[in-house]
Amino acid sequence: MIYLDNHATTSCDPRVVDAMLPWLSEDFGNPSSGSHEMGRTAAAAVQQSAATIASILNVPSESVIFTSGATESNNLAIRGVCLHPRQKKRHLVSVTSEHHAVLDVCDDLQRDGFRVTRVPVIPHGHDSSGIVDLDQLAEAIDDDTALVSVMWANNEIGSIAPMKTIADICHSRGVLLHSDATQAVGRIPVDMLDTDVDLLSAAAHKFYGPKGSGLLVVGNGNRRVRLRPQIVGGGQQQGLRSGTLNTAGIVAMATALKLAVDEMESHQERIGQMRNQLFQLLCSGIDGIQLNGIPLASQHRLAGNLNLQLESIEGEAWMAATPSVAFSSGSACSSVDAKPSHVLTATGLSESEARRSVRFGIGRFNTDQQIHQAAEWLIESHAKLRRLS
Ligand SMILES: Cc1ncc(COP(=O)(O)O)c(C=O)c1O
Repeated sequence: MIYLDNHATTSCDPRVVDAMLPWLSEDFGNPSSGSHEMGRTAAAAVQQSAATIASILNVPSESVIFTSGATESNNLAIRGVCLHPRQKKRHLVSVTSEHHAVLDVCDDLQRDGFRVTRVPVIPHGHDSSGIVDLDQLAEAIDDDTALVSVMWANNEIGSIAPMKTIADICHSRGVLLHSDATQAVGRIPVDMLDTDVDLLSAAAHKFYGPKGSGLLVVGNGNRRVRLRPQIVGGGQQQGLRSGTLNTAGIVAMATALKLAVDEMESHQERIGQMRNQLFQLLCSGIDGIQLNGIPLASQHRLAGNLNLQLESIEGEAWMAATPSVAFSSGSACSSVDAKPSHVLTATGLSESEARRSVRFGIGRFNTDQQIHQAAEWLIESHAKLRRLS
């Protein structure tokens, strides 16, 4: 099996596994058990992890809240800001190409009486295809807007949003900005103070950490962010997210993020080369392939992302005919319900074009040899499908 689906998840780096294991067995104390040494040791590890993550994202340590993943972080950020008892505003702005972990929270708040504006993205065929339309974003904000939520990097077409410009637009209107940075953190530099993003969601399993460990950064030190907790109980994490802290997952996430950032330049360059190589090989063996999203050479596209449109074969059929290569036809969750990707249709592709599209995510553990082998299998299976159709 050749794994080319690193936007869905990544394998845990063996160095991360080594760092997390002791916290499951020898040092298993509850970080809230301040009455004994084992609890205090675990609490110190959690604190150290928060400090590591905070220094990488350039925020105060107290701003880092640990969660179970980006879905929970997005829920806590958006619902938390909108439903805070002192929140008087009742309008939310987001973008049509967001992950369902943001879109569905907006839908839910809309059912509860909030007004939601979903801003379109620049259409297919333009150099900034898939990036939120900044003029329409500015127009969407009004005096009743409580929060703007814009993803940092898209999980399907890899477009990278101009977060500093977006933050300036929001703050000039006195509105907080949340970003689902799940695909950005660990892949590209993310500095929350420099960009002035107020809230940020991420998940360890996208940067070679374990699943079930995520974070929400609440405030970059520049302005106050009030959140209503969504999970109440033991009052951990300043009461913002109760529940026993997952020490092993937290240590693993901090270790994974430090590795990803320390090694970012070399990994991302190699990943970009493999992605370009895969594109060239597929184009030379299959007629009529089109690239979805921003040009590959652009700085505004994630290095490992490749989203392609076939001339006549559906992505689902190609995947079924190529069982030895793991790739996908959309995000891991939208591929459950067999609908064409809402991200691709948001860029103006027809349902048929979206169904003929697939996504590859090249990652740290891929090799040149795997790229050549995968391309060979993909070209073979495509030719077989063409003969059958
Ligand atoms: C952009 C984005 N947001 C949110 C999520 C949800 O992350 P998790 O499944 O870790 O909660 C994902 C995962 O696919 C994602 O890519």
